[in-house]
Amino acid sequence: MKTLNLIVNRREVSVAIDPKTPLLDVLRNELDLASPRFGCGEEQCGACRVKVGSHLMYACTTTVGEVQDAVTTVEGLGTLETPHPLQQAFMDLNAGQCGYCLSGILVTASALLNANPAPSRSDVMAALDAHLCRCGAHNRIINAILKAAEDS
Ligand code: FES
Ligand code: FES
Repeated sequence: MKTLNLIVNRREVSVAIDPKTPLLDVLRNELDLASPRFGCGEEQCGACRVKVGSHLMYACTTTVGEVQDAVTTVEGLGTLETPHPLQQAFMDLNAGQCGYCLSGILVTASALLNANPAPSRSDVMAALDAHLCRCGAHNRIINAILKAAEDS
């Protein structure tokens, strides 16, 4: 057990925890951030993806002790009152069904748009390669990301 200081969604937090604990467990169980989700636990689905600094990380396999930079989850992108353009576009196009995959996808999409504000359809598809959507909502998800790029 160790006290770790983290920056999560621009907020400084301290957690007393085993540094080998998965970052996903810390976000969900210690910090009450429900957006990053457990899907496979093996870097195969992308449901847990968050940003650490500017890097996309799998929170299921990254231990909290490894985190050396600020963490961003969907909660750090926008709110219902002031949604991020991606969140607005996903709502406008109903891009998703159960929503289980969407948090990781939104985090990846925000990293994509930061690096490439005008991506092509194939750029978006390549960026989403690490994400599974069991509902088959891929087309609407891609359309929403392209819409957000246009609207930003
Ligand atoms: S839960 Fe982390 S990639 Fe699937
Ligand atoms: S919307 Fe259900 S898993 Fe993608």
